[in-house]
Amino acid sequence: MNEQVDGSSPPFGAADTVCPAVGAALQPTLDELSRPGRRASRIPHPPADALAGIPADQLRALPPALPEVDEPETVRHFVNLSHLNYAVDTGFYPLGSCTMKWNPKINEWAARLPGFADLHPLVPDALAQGTLELLWDLERWLCEISGMRAVTLQPAAGAQGELTGILMVRAYHRSRGDTERSEIIVPDSSHGTNPATASMAGYRTITVRSDARGGVDLDALRAVLGPRTAALMLTNPSTLGLFEERVCEIVDAVHEAGGLAYMDGANMNAILGKFRPGDAGFDVMHVNVHKTFSTPHGGGGPGAGPVAVGEKLLPFLPSPRVLRGDDGTFRLERPGERPASIGRVRSYVGSTGVLVRAYAYLLAHGGSGLEEVSEDAVLAANYLRHRLRGTYEIPYDRVCKHEFVASAANLKREAGVRTLDVAKRLIDHGHHPPTIYFPLIVEEALLIEPTETESLETLDDFAGAMEAIAAEAHVNPEALHSAPHTAPVRRLDEATAARQPDLHWRPMTGAQMPCLD
Ligand SMILES: Cc1ncc(COP(=O)(O)O)c(C=O)c1O
Repeated sequence: MNEQVDGSSPPFGAADTVCPAVGAALQPTLDELSRPGRRASRIPHPPADALAGIPADQLRALPPALPEVDEPETVRHFVNLSHLNYAVDTGFYPLGSCTMKWNPKINEWAARLPGFADLHPLVPDALAQGTLELLWDLERWLCEISGMRAVTLQPAAGAQGELTGILMVRAYHRSRGDTERSEIIVPDSSHGTNPATASMAGYRTITVRSDARGGVDLDALRAVLGPRTAALMLTNPSTLGLFEERVCEIVDAVHEAGGLAYMDGANMNAILGKFRPGDAGFDVMHVNVHKTFSTPHGGGGPGAGPVAVGEKLLPFLPSPRVLRGDDGTFRLERPGERPASIGRVRSYVGSTGVLVRAYAYLLAHGGSGLEEVSEDAVLAANYLRHRLRGTYEIPYDRVCKHEFVASAANLKREAGVRTLDVAKRLIDHGHHPPTIYFPLIVEEALLIEPTETESLETLDDFAGAMEAIAAEAHVNPEALHSAPHTAPVRRLDEATAARQPDLHWRPMTGAQMPCLD
């Protein structure tokens, strides 16, 4: 099991400790497996006139250059490739700020019901009543959870929800002739998408530092608030995993300056049923539905980032909205029906499949179940924080919400081992590493989010691996510097891979090429 890809024996005692997180070997491409004449299947008796209806100038001169492989090879190729994926379905995934919780399989059943999955997005409203009703209900539930007045389900992800929210903020100020507001204030513990959103919407970002407890420094905030403030964007709970203790004072200060208060609610899984942003006076927020309400994410698939607004931003919500008539039927708003709307931000009505999954999740949990979700997420994060205290530094060591930041700065000082080494060594222990070097305000940061769905045994196993790695750092730091030892590829040059990705397809040569054209 622990034999190296190159056949050599496992180094650095890896054999004693490891269970590789992913399949052992890289896979050849289908082109490399191709041999002339191999087929998965043949059509036994193709009609003699099969090509008769195709104009001659549209017919290929030569067959296409596709790999020639048989069925078992093809299936094994893709199944083996899938074993190289790490996923919540294969193991613990404590990736901070990402909420890689278990996604209940019943959601997949619901999203695949033909009435949802096969519905053409352009069918007349009369034929889409079930889906429209689901979306309408989901909006109501998100209003209830957030304490806000109305919701748009259109945005396709959290980041797009932020942009949608800030475009509404801009429309609001403009509608009042208040055109001097050119700044958005972002605390330094915010998610990176917050300042990115501000820039994309044409605003200047003003960063406010955190205080010693990891909250927004109110004096620093007051110093930058003023007539140029369009909004404050507050990630709450923050990327330090901390709930903003003085949230109401912060919102009031922003309002006093004439700005609007935006809450990044991507981390709502820590506060469901405990805190409603609308009650604290927030004007607008987004929810990361794929995180909080469990759609598989992280692989680049669709997400959903509904945006909830209070009274002030109601007129500016994207269109079309789902409306319910007096007779109980549903319809989509018609173009131009609400002139102040910022317009459409996504095709059709949003990522419907993701929204159906969220609906199923909400139905399955109910109000008290959602509260329990948050309690368990907070319990798991605090349990791990306690377990790792002493082995790693915990810079803001107070009760956290869904996640907490640990730091390997002590290992760097004492053993010359860095956070990246710890993260890579975790792969040898069968765990996905946490988020590293983020948030930026913590040296050698490890942002750990266990989520509410993991068992005590899994949490203990992870904590044990982290402790073993810290101990190993002192006696055999080289084992960490050269980790991972069991993954199909070793330490990659990630900076070069990101900046100069080599994504070229190169044609096969010689006999392997089924058809050169
Ligand atoms: C706090 C926070 N805000 C915003 C985002 C961006 O969301 P998305 O990745 O869906 O665009 C994330 C991502 O997880 C997040 O954690």
